Amino acid sequence: MAEKKKMSVAEILAAARAEKGSAEPVKAGDTAATEPAVDSAAGVESPPSQPEKKPVAAKAAGGGRPSVADILAMARQKGAAEGGAAAAKPEAPKPASTAKPAAAKPAAAKSEKPAATGGKTGVQRDTASILAAARGGAKPGPVTKAEAVPRPVKPKPAVAKEPLAPARVVPPMPSRPKPAAKSEVEDRRSFLSYAVGSFMAVGFTALSVTGGLFSLGLARFLFPNVLAEPPSRFKVGFKDGFPSGKVETKFVAQYGVWVVNGDFQGEQQIYALKTVCTHLGCTPNWLEAEQKFKCPCHGSGFYKDGINFEGPAPRPLERYAIRIADDGQLEVDKSRAFQEEMGQWADPSSFIPA
Ligand code: FES
Repeated sequence: MAEKKKMSVAEILAAARAEKGSAEPVKAGDTAATEPAVDSAAGVESPPSQPEKKPVAAKAAGGGRPSVADILAMARQKGAAEGGAAAAKPEAPKPASTAKPAAAKPAAAKSEKPAATGGKTGVQRDTASILAAARGGAKPGPVTKAEAVPRPVKPKPAVAKEPLAPARVVPPMPSRPKPAAKSEVEDRRSFLSYAVGSFMAVGFTALSVTGGLFSLGLARFLFPNVLAEPPSRFKVGFKDGFPSGKVETKFVAQYGVWVVNGDFQGEQQIYALKTVCTHLGCTPNWLEAEQKFKCPCHGSGFYKDGINFEGPAPRPLERYAIRIADDGQLEVDKSRAFQEEMGQWADPSSFIPA
C-alpha cells in the first residue's frame, strides 16, 4: 500500500492498460513500461523487464506523449516477451500487480535491451516487421521488402469490346451570311434618305403649287369679271364706198350693223340698221336675191329700208346714229338708236343724205 500511494496517475493508467493486453494498439499517452509481457499460451503474465521498460515508463510518468522510438521499444519488448516465453517460465510468476512493473520501469532498460532480443531470437528485425507485429498482432518474423510475397494481381475481367459504331457523318455547318459590305449599307441608307427626301420635296412642291393656285383663285374672285366690249363709235369708211342700193354686210360680225345706201320715202339716204330682230332678238340674214332681211328664227321679213312686212316682228328694225367724221369717213355711234314707229328716223342724226 505504501508503494501504491507513491504511483503517479500515468503509472496507474499504464498498469491498467497492461492488464488489458499487449495486443491493443498503443495510444497516445500509453507507456511501454506499463505494458506487461503476457504469455498467450500459458496465460501467465510474464514479469516485465525492468531495464527495457524504464524509459517509456519514465516518460509516461512524466506525462509526455510517447514518441516513435518509445512505440518501437514497446513493440520490441512485446516481441521479446512472446519469443522468450520459455525463458521467462522458470521465473516465478509474479502476481498481477500493476504497480510493480511500473515501479520496476525506472531501471535502465536500454542497456539490457540488446541482450534480451539478441539472446532470444538472434534475428535482426527491421522496423517494418516490428511495426507490423506491434500494430496488427501479425506473426513475428522478418518481413522485408525482399521477403514480402507480392500479392497476386487479380486479372481484370476482359471487357468485351463493343464494335465500333460507324462514324457519324456530320453535315457541314452552314456558312454564316456575310455582313453586308459597308459600301452597300451606305448605298441603302443614301437611297432611303434620297427617297424620303424626294418624297418630302414632292410633297412640299405640291403644297406650294396648291397654295399658288389658291392665291390666283382668290385674286380672280376679288377682281370683277369685265367683258371687253367693242367701242360704241367706229368708222366704216368714206361715203364713196357705199354706192346707191348697196347693203354692206361686212360689219355685221364685228359691230352688228348693216350700212345701207337706199331710198326711204323718196329720199336717197345712207343709214346704219341694227342687226337685231324686233321679234325675239335673232339676227336676220340679208338675202340679196330677194332684196330683204329674213329672220331665221320665226320667219319675220324686213325690207331694205328696215320696215317689217312679214312674220311675227311687230315693228321695223332700229337705226344707229351716223355722221361724217372730221377725216371725212362715216362714223357710226351705237350709243344712240332711232325707232321708225316713234318718228325718230326723221332725226338728221339717223341718216346722211346720199
Ligand atoms: Fe325674228 Fe322671231 S326673232 S322673227
